[in-house]
Amino acid sequence: MSGSVRAAGRPDPQPREPSSSPRPRWGLVLAGAAGGAALALYVAAAPFVAPALRRVCLPFVPASPAQVDNVLRLLAGRRGALVDIGSGDGRIVIEAAKRGFRAVGYELNPWLAWYSRYRAWRVGVHHSTTFYICDLWKVNFSEFNNVVIFGVPQMMPQLEEKLQQELKGSARVIACRFPFPSWTASHESGKGIDTAWSYDSKSFKITGNESLNKTTERTGPV
Ligand SMILES: C[S@@+](CC[C@H](N)C(=O)[O-])C[C@H]1O[C@@H](n2cnc3c(N)ncnc32)[C@H](O)[C@@H]1O
Repeated sequence: MSGSVRAAGRPDPQPREPSSSPRPRWGLVLAGAAGGAALALYVAAAPFVAPALRRVCLPFVPASPAQVDNVLRLLAGRRGALVDIGSGDGRIVIEAAKRGFRAVGYELNPWLAWYSRYRAWRVGVHHSTTFYICDLWKVNFSEFNNVVIFGVPQMMPQLEEKLQQELKGSARVIACRFPFPSWTASHESGKGIDTAWSYDSKSFKITGNESLNKTTERTGPV
């Protein structure tokens, strides 16, 4: 008798076929899913974090409804093209378009620009609104007659200089929450953090005569 013992009445075990489908490697699947999720999070969040890493940090803080009302009150009766510099989710551009302005937003964050386009389409003002994904410091605003900025104090002196050079004599600028440091506002609307100030470019543009006077002051009478 051979040494192998078999249980009585049990059939012989079948020889095992090598498995045709490879076993899932759960570790790899989980690592891939976690990596994908982290990448998706990074792609979604990076445009919101990027402004904080720039020389002038201008984060996304949407205007309150009262702030939007104050801006539009200061633009009552105005015509022509309007721009919101750093347009966020497009709320000012969209409200301006509802009131008849051809309204444009420049926004660094592509998610916000695309969301603004979607919102404009939802409320039916997509034909009179445009949203550009663009750095505000690289844009020339000379074509705009109405300019809105909800900025931060650190950027206002530089923006003041830029707008002073670019805007035409008929333009009006509205600053939300933080006024311009050197210009004198013609009107003010609202209170506290919802305050908006309006500036007419006639008051801040350096005309030929003014620059002549300034030069004369500096050099003295000849
Ligand atoms: C304070 S929020 C104002 C948003 C909008 N104007 C409002 O009133 O609801 C400023 C916006 O400017 C954008 N921003 C920051 N730096 C920018 C830049 N260099 N060029 C264009 N947009 C910028 C931010 O992403 C943010 O959406």
